[in-house]
Amino acid sequence: MRQKDSDDLVRIGPGTTMGKLMRQYWLPAAMSSELKADGEPMRLLLLGEQLIAFRDSSGRVGVMDQKCPHRCASLFLGRNEENGIRCVYHGYKFDVEGNCLDMPSVPASLDFRSKIKAKAYRVEERNGLVWVHMGTQAAAPPFPGLEVLRLDDSEMTVFCAMRSCNWLQALEGDIDTSHFGFLHAGHIDPDDLADDHPFRGAVFHRAPELKVTETPWGTTYGAFRPAANGQTYWRIANFLFPFWTQQPQGDFATNLHARAWVPLDDTHLMFYNFVWKRPLPNRMLGKSGKPLTGVDLDMRFMPNTTDWLGRWQLTANPANDWQIDRDGQRDKVSFTGISNIHMQDQAVTESMGPITDHDFEHLAPTDIMIARTRRHILRTARAFMEQGAAPPCLNDPDTYLQARSGFFIADPKTDWREAYEANLKEAVRPAFKQAAE
Ligand code: FES
Ligand SMILES: [Fe+2]
Repeated sequence: MRQKDSDDLVRIGPGTTMGKLMRQYWLPAAMSSELKADGEPMRLLLLGEQLIAFRDSSGRVGVMDQKCPHRCASLFLGRNEENGIRCVYHGYKFDVEGNCLDMPSVPASLDFRSKIKAKAYRVEERNGLVWVHMGTQAAAPPFPGLEVLRLDDSEMTVFCAMRSCNWLQALEGDIDTSHFGFLHAGHIDPDDLADDHPFRGAVFHRAPELKVTETPWGTTYGAFRPAANGQTYWRIANFLFPFWTQQPQGDFATNLHARAWVPLDDTHLMFYNFVWKRPLPNRMLGKSGKPLTGVDLDMRFMPNTTDWLGRWQLTANPANDWQIDRDGQRDKVSFTGISNIHMQDQAVTESMGPITDHDFEHLAPTDIMIARTRRHILRTARAFMEQGAAPPCLNDPDTYLQARSGFFIADPKTDWREAYEANLKEAVRPAFKQAAE
């Protein structure tokens, strides 16, 4: 990959190719619970911009450039009081939309508050999150139409976790099926998995073949392996513009979820996981009745700090070698010696370095989804940058509703895209039910 291609894909600051594309969409930016009315302003890094977020006395959230538009003192130091943030330097006060409400250090006859504005972004609160739109267009686009985001808050869960690497290499873990049987499950004996265990297909045949196609929302792969009775086991996953994925680890009919890989800057991101609340099969037990090890989802966080990168950091991190347990690795407690599935992904993608060296790597046939997705992103971002071509799904958010991931069994004679459509027709659709009620 040429350096220019690599840079255009991974860089997300203002004015960059990918940064411009991402700024067209609504971005998950923080948990709503992080901001209390009249509470402390919070440092917020997003697409390489240093912002502050605060909740005013009326409960509205403001997200704006941390620099006061007067002489650039940080509004992080500001007083959050009476429906606005007041800069502690000369006392200018701004509401959540950036309007200047007060200029007490300027004589009344010289007041110029109508001529100055804090650089505030559009904000919406949904799904227990603060969403920000950093684009410059007059009207915000519709909210992203992913099905899981349409559920009532009581029907879904969301959590986030910070990761110290470029957004793309982190996202690529979700569209790379061949790592599952090693990184997460290399220590699991296939004979210890019941026929309906969700890991079974990926552990029985650890070298899948892949089909990839471009779709209206991005890209989709179907990884296939032989299944019992001459059938084919398919695992489907999606990349959805601009930074969403749907991973294959669940029954296609009910695997309603989405994951966002939102860049904080070029070398850090916040991962958001949105899941439909539903009873899940117990995947923690082997056939023998003994618990499977190394596959839990028990995330441990450091206390949040006010640092630009101080929110939702995990306790296992590069500074402590992700708490790798070499005895556990040797004794097959897990394949890695790293304790849970999220941490295993986090460790390998952080271990690639802040931005993966695309010139050094050698993509394999099993990386075809990654290669096609990179190409599609690059083409799309450049078409937007150079010709203003409409970004996918932006103005037609219902497009996302056709994207679903997970596993199913199909007749080997059926084309995988036909099998996908057939399974999608049968898929459980709680959002649609909810709309009909
Ligand atoms: S720098 Fe903020 S009021 Fe002067
Ligand atoms: Fe993974």
